[in-house]
Amino acid sequence: MEPFAALILPPAHPLNIQLRPPPLGQHCSLAEERASGSVESSCLSEMAVPSTDIFKLGFIGAGNMAESIARGVAKSGVLPPPSIRTAHRRPERRLVFESFGVRILETNSQVVDESDIIVLSVKPQAAKQVLSDLKPFLSDEKLLVSIAAGIKLRDLQDWSGQRRIIRVMPNTPSAVGQAASVFSVMCVGEMATEKDEERVASLFRAIGKVWTADEKYFDAVTGLSGSGPAYVYLAIEALADGGVAAGLPRDLALSLASQTVLGAATMVNQTGKHPGQLKDAVTSPAGTTIAGIHELEKGAYRATLMNAVVAATKRCRELSQS
Ligand SMILES: NC(=O)c1ccc[n+]([C@@H]2O[C@H](COP(=O)([O-])OP(=O)(O)OC[C@H]3O[C@@H](n4cnc5c(N)ncnc54)[C@H](OP(=O)(O)O)[C@@H]3O)[C@@H](O)[C@H]2O)c1
Repeated sequence: MEPFAALILPPAHPLNIQLRPPPLGQHCSLAEERASGSVESSCLSEMAVPSTDIFKLGFIGAGNMAESIARGVAKSGVLPPPSIRTAHRRPERRLVFESFGVRILETNSQVVDESDIIVLSVKPQAAKQVLSDLKPFLSDEKLLVSIAAGIKLRDLQDWSGQRRIIRVMPNTPSAVGQAASVFSVMCVGEMATEKDEERVASLFRAIGKVWTADEKYFDAVTGLSGSGPAYVYLAIEALADGGVAAGLPRDLALSLASQTVLGAATMVNQTGKHPGQLKDAVTSPAGTTIAGIHELEKGAYRATLMNAVVAATKRCRELSQS
């Protein structure tokens, strides 16, 4: 398989979960079956379906990302809100979670005790201390899911003593149900099970689309989809400024810019056509669009975006080693 084949979606493929071979020297039965083609992965692009598989989900760190995931899971019906629990030292955060039915407990250890799946959603700098404190309460009867950026499975295992661990990298459009999430499973023995993968896929499918990939890709995933929303915000702002410079009212320019980006992304996703093909289709000889593209190329538009992803990947690598 090509190095990045695991992340490439065949044109017009109805599925958006990607298959990856099991890491060398590790056993992972679902991955093996998928790699051999004997298991068809489920369609993760559709609205999450209410589940009959009820389990208890706990969040350690009731911040923004935990709120997005919990809201998405509750709204989609993947779990009823009382099956979700968290704890927080600040009353205003407890109230936010309480407002949509999440059970509030007093301490992180109670959250672990009363959950089957524990999502570690504190800032990366706090992860080591929090997991070390929770180590006595964790066991391999529970699944640990970490969304902490840059924290490797191996470190998560060392700090927590857990062997059932899944690492996920979502992004901020989770707040509007449009996250791009990638997850990687730690297969120590057979501790992370096929059911674990399915449950985690169902949770993150509730806030957007889900892919699986080997952990070695996670720094690049962070550089692309983790940091990518900010690159696109900049592009939307610049397009709107261009519209204003060309004489449009600010509100209209901003609305047109954001809808244009949304429409173009939807074209790529829904037609399965290569973006170059879609660009060629709207670029007539000596027309307006090619005049605009010519200016973008003079400004090294594509090279600049590529450099942004590579720089963010490099920074992620530095941070995860520090
Ligand atoms: N936001 C993103 O775009 C994004 C994308 C991918 C992954 N992530 C990852 O998601 C994680 C959470 O990010 P976030 O944006 O949701 O951050 P956040 O809003 O700051 O949430 C972290 C929460 O953890 C709480 N906390 C701190 N120490 C704690 C402890 N010892 N026990 C329990 N709770 C504690 C914080 O409380 P206080 O506010 O009171 O300190 C805060 O509410 C991070 O690891 C990040 O790398 C974020």
